[in-house]
Amino acid sequence: MQIISTIAEFQKWRRQVENVAFVPTMGNLHEGHLSLVREAKKNADAVVVSIFVNRIQFGEGEDFDQYPRTLQEDAEKLKEVGADIVFAPAEQELYPDGKQHYFIEPPLLQNDLCGKTRPGHFRGVATVVTKLFNIVQPDVACFGKKDYQQLVILTGMVRDLNMNIRIVPVAIERAEDGLALSSRNGYLSPEERCQAPELFQTLQTMATQMQQGHTDFIALEKMATSKLNQQGWQVDYIEIRQALTLAKAQKSDKNIVILAAAVLGRTRLIDNLEVHLLHA
Ligand code: PAJ
Repeated sequence: MQIISTIAEFQKWRRQVENVAFVPTMGNLHEGHLSLVREAKKNADAVVVSIFVNRIQFGEGEDFDQYPRTLQEDAEKLKEVGADIVFAPAEQELYPDGKQHYFIEPPLLQNDLCGKTRPGHFRGVATVVTKLFNIVQPDVACFGKKDYQQLVILTGMVRDLNMNIRIVPVAIERAEDGLALSSRNGYLSPEERCQAPELFQTLQTMATQMQQGHTDFIALEKMATSKLNQQGWQVDYIEIRQALTLAKAQKSDKNIVILAAAVLGRTRLIDNLEVHLLHA
């Protein structure tokens, strides 16, 4: 495995390889990221993993400076799982004069759900992913369902802008107690870590209620929100949506996803659960 930090050196390598599967990350890798690499390996001759903490997707007061940077450990894990190239550019390689001048502007979905409290986030994600796609020239790119809204936005971007890349969605990797793995779980205190699985448990309860025939989605969202708030969380949103479009779900919809974001202490966690309803 090779670690490459410049675009020029990467392009030299790229010319010799036919098929590439790509896994973009911000590093501090855990089993969730590694599951994307394993999936990528099934889809192409070579796997490229990028590690880049992308300033333009972080808002004012968010954790850009604090975000864990662990390149050495990440490289060891990637070697073990069989990645071919780690592309880890310095900031000035992607933003040579310190900022981005042209942006990819996602549609209105960028202002919904996580976009409500993170304005500009998905524009920053879509822009850096496009830059990375242009550099890496992948045939396939793997994204986790953990960041479900990101996956929907990027799938739409690839389709709408005729990017010749196949997006492969990968299931959420969870800890034994159900907590979705995330680099941000490291911010939790031991007590908060014990409490954190309540978020997924809430989604599971809602899914069960829906499968039992509850169709008042607004009431379900409200009940789940107030329960979590009572348990000491600050719920940002809990929403029942159409799985493909993320539009508000209707009673007749079969493929649904429940998405949630909530703050525990000072850590904002997100999670989601797909639900397939069998209507009579
Ligand atoms: P990052 O948060 O590092 O995540 C990189 C990829 O790993 C994303 O596709 C994310 O959905 C996936 N992932 C994270 N935790 C996961 C889990 N528990 N199970 C499955 N997949 C998981 O997402 C980003 O970085 C950035 O926004 C990026 C796309 C790299 C653009 O900067």
